[in-house]
Amino acid sequence: MAEMSRTEKWIVNRANPWAYQHVLRPFFQHHLRLPANAALLEVGCGTGQAALITNQLYHPAKFVVTDYDPSQVAEARATFQGAYGQIPSQITVETADALKLRYDDASFDAVFAFFVLHHLSEHKLGKVQAAMVQGLAEIDRVIKPRGSFIYSDMFQRKAIKDYFTGKGYEIVHRQNFLAVIELVIIRKRSISNGLLNSEDGKERHLPRHYGLATHVSFSS
Ligand SMILES: C[S@@+](CC[C@H](N)C(=O)[O-])C[C@H]1O[C@@H](n2cnc3c(N)ncnc32)[C@H](O)[C@@H]1O
Repeated sequence: MAEMSRTEKWIVNRANPWAYQHVLRPFFQHHLRLPANAALLEVGCGTGQAALITNQLYHPAKFVVTDYDPSQVAEARATFQGAYGQIPSQITVETADALKLRYDDASFDAVFAFFVLHHLSEHKLGKVQAAMVQGLAEIDRVIKPRGSFIYSDMFQRKAIKDYFTGKGYEIVHRQNFLAVIELVIIRKRSISNGLLNSEDGKERHLPRHYGLATHVSFSS
């Protein structure tokens, strides 16, 4: 997987807190609805700024905040300790590799991943598909039916959307920032009798490409 460069680490650890207060917080307030007592997971949390905003807005019953880099996990712990004095009991901040999550199938109402997905593939080495798809499949696996995936990225935007829509997800909201950054909310539809049940309660036949999403092209 692609490590963060020193410059990227500086941006993530110093600039993102400001951006998240002014961009992510209003985006959530306007567009993201989550069930009461939700179980939430964030992968690649970095300093935990997005997780702090999420916790303040939604008061989840359970929130697992993760990063595979122990130094970023320490930053995220410090963010919660700075805000609350100690890490609230419903929040776990721990190391986890998004490529191999140790959480049960269908165990989260929503999963968050901000500027993480492109790290899952060694795109600089041209080895994109396998690792990215493995990470996306893990995220899909742990999301409950009708659960949400909220993510931002500037790379592989079409391929990520194609993967999830191919799995039957619907796009709830999508917004572009600075022309290249896409912030997206998508929702998993439940499946019964070969039909997709969407948020509006209507049933639709599975798209023909359903289940074949591992074959998406990651060239965009
Ligand atoms: C660009 S930073 C974004 C951090 C945070 N989400 C934010 O927006 O401020 C990417 C983060 O993904 C983490 N990361 C990279 N590969 C990962 C993986 N396989 N599993 C979990 N986290 C990963 C990095 O350690 C880093 O903290």
